[in-house]
Amino acid sequence: MASIGRIGILTSGGDCAGLNAVIRAVVHRAVEGYGWEVVGIHQGTAGLMARPVEAEPLDLSLFTGAFLRMAGTILGTTSEGDPFDFPLPDGSRIDRSDEVVEGYRSLGLDALIGVGGDGSLAILRRLARQGGIDFVGIPKTIDNDVGLTEVSVGYATAVWVATEALDRLMPTAASHSRVMVLEVMGRDAGHIALAAGISGGADIILIPEIPYRMEAVAGKIEELKERGRNFALVVVAEAVRTESGVPITRRRAGSGSRYGGIGYYVAERIAELTGAKTRVTVLGHLQRGGMPTPRDRLMASVFGVYAVDLIAAGRFDRMVAWSARQVVDVPLADAIASYRAVDPAGPLVHTARGLGICLGDL
Ligand code: F6P
Repeated sequence: MASIGRIGILTSGGDCAGLNAVIRAVVHRAVEGYGWEVVGIHQGTAGLMARPVEAEPLDLSLFTGAFLRMAGTILGTTSEGDPFDFPLPDGSRIDRSDEVVEGYRSLGLDALIGVGGDGSLAILRRLARQGGIDFVGIPKTIDNDVGLTEVSVGYATAVWVATEALDRLMPTAASHSRVMVLEVMGRDAGHIALAAGISGGADIILIPEIPYRMEAVAGKIEELKERGRNFALVVVAEAVRTESGVPITRRRAGSGSRYGGIGYYVAERIAELTGAKTRVTVLGHLQRGGMPTPRDRLMASVFGVYAVDLIAAGRFDRMVAWSARQVVDVPLADAIASYRAVDPAGPLVHTARGLGICLGDL
């Protein structure tokens, strides 16, 4: 057993539903299970870079009941400002990683839990190795693309929100005889689009892992028309490219470029090829908010407790994961190295095809 008295926790990268449930689980397990103190670090690595360092003690008095249900993260987070490549106002970049490590040391912590997606976990691991920090990672991301875990915190809620969007779009689509295109997030992976498309009764799902042809999409819409259907539901993942392979991105001030807008392209092409009336909904950050679903609360709780147990057992440089109905831990380096895209030969793609959903390729 490692000698531990005080641990830190931070959330890093884009927020999602279920982060507060992770924090709650970590504090419960650390305080009640092991008698440790927990320090919450604000704004991810930015809090460790700030002087004075931005952090607060977390104890059980915080948990009056609301926490488990609240989206966002009470600690704050950042998806900008990689400490190894930190942008300055004049456009130049510097390495501020030593400041982060120094900030961590000033808190007198024995170990750190970082809740992040693949990008944040890679940065946190690099910092941990540089600073000799005993680190454990917890996967979170609506994109569900972290390797070596079947589930990341936040994904289930995002799928729920996107499914509910289809539930709401369907009646208006049918009332107006329209083709409704729903663009969902997911970064480079199509997990949200595929799962929500199946759950929400989509007719067409386009994901970046499966190349599509607009003729196949138009053909499906014609087929539906011939069957007497006056509407169609189309789900498009944000990273889907145009037919000539161009990603649709926009530059956001201070954040580099982000996907967004492919839904409009797909809708226009559908209108051109079929004459259908189309409308587009870009769901955006709605997918990151709302109350976490029971599944996300459950995963958050399971992961939080297990991460603390890993620290107690002195098992560091690991990531908590969900595999074959078990909570397990995997080498953090391996998880970071193995990106999890949708498997075009996997069960959900098979299911979609079995339901007659067009994936744009046939
Ligand atoms: O990684 C989570 C995610 O929501 C992606 O699905 C999306 O592409 C991106 O973050 C949006 O980033 P931002 O919140 O910086 O606009």
